[in-house]
Amino acid sequence: MVKVLVTGGAGMLGRACLATMRERHAVVGVDLPDGDLTLPGVAASLMSRHRPDWVVHTAAFTDVDGAETQAERAFAVNATATAHLARACAEAGAGLSYLSTDYVFPGDNPEGYGEESPRAPINHYGQTKARGEEAVEAAGGRWQIVRTSWLFGPGSKNFVLSIQKALAARSQVRVVADQTGCPTYAPDLAAVLLFLLENGTPGIYHATNRGSCTWFGFAREIARQTGHDPRRVMACATADWPTSARRPACSILLSRRLEDVDCPQRPPWEQALAAYLAWLERHQPLRAGEE
Ligand SMILES: NC(=O)c1ccc[n+]([C@@H]2O[C@H](COP(=O)([O-])OP(=O)(O)OC[C@H]3O[C@@H](n4cnc5c(N)ncnc54)[C@H](OP(=O)(O)O)[C@@H]3O)[C@@H](O)[C@H]2O)c1
Repeated sequence: MVKVLVTGGAGMLGRACLATMRERHAVVGVDLPDGDLTLPGVAASLMSRHRPDWVVHTAAFTDVDGAETQAERAFAVNATATAHLARACAEAGAGLSYLSTDYVFPGDNPEGYGEESPRAPINHYGQTKARGEEAVEAAGGRWQIVRTSWLFGPGSKNFVLSIQKALAARSQVRVVADQTGCPTYAPDLAAVLLFLLENGTPGIYHATNRGSCTWFGFAREIARQTGHDPRRVMACATADWPTSARRPACSILLSRRLEDVDCPQRPPWEQALAAYLAWLERHQPLRAGEE
């Protein structure tokens, strides 16, 4: 049994990690307001209080557009706090899994990006997460960087809920059809993180559900699986949907290293979506017209 500390324990992925890892290990979750990891000394005091063998660092500033306007806060949470935590882990001899993102890549390669592809983010969120990765690599401890993308799952606002609500409220829903990526179900990612913690060697990993799609394709599949006519989802271009942050056109994460360490295959994203919709049906059936 390993003692695991999960930062961001109240977030979408943090909650999935707690649920998954609790079955086999002694797991503690921390989040705001237990301690703001941007403050010096908080990471070290969490380490001395909990004495973990391994830290899964999911805490982050995850509002991609908000990171453009709250640039300092995003940097403090994603880069500075990660540097504090990586140093505290190295000093305590604990391993560190750092959750990172497809947005460290520019998105100009239609083939996608492997673990070894160079970081070249095109928005501030991606830059702060890339600096977090560099801090983890430089701290001198045992580390894994696990990049993921397009997360959905229990416990947080996410694209699946947004599309369900839009379909309940409007006859047509426009969704961008020129951004491609890999949807990822938080509980499936938590299972990969658990596997890596138990079996993985240090380094960078890419972990998503299998397959890729555009946001438009994802939305049509949500419509199909929830009994709506998928044609109610209409394609639009990124240019028609201006946002503060630029987004990569293609941020497919090619996962090679998980296969090298014999990690079990992740389900295809469509199957993961079905699992999430079944979870929603059990826990919070959507009422027609719900905001
Ligand atoms: N969501 C995605 O689509 C996606 C895609 C690629 C990668 N990732 C990465 O995956 C990880 C998990 O994402 P998620 O969607 O589960 O995130 P999330 O739901 O936003 O959870 C992050 C948690 O971190 C907490 N937090 C923020 N600032 C903190 C601070 N200074 N000190 C301590 N805790 C703090 C947040 O608290 P508050 O809510 O109170 O701020 C929140 O509970 C992140 O590292 C993210 O960068 C996410």
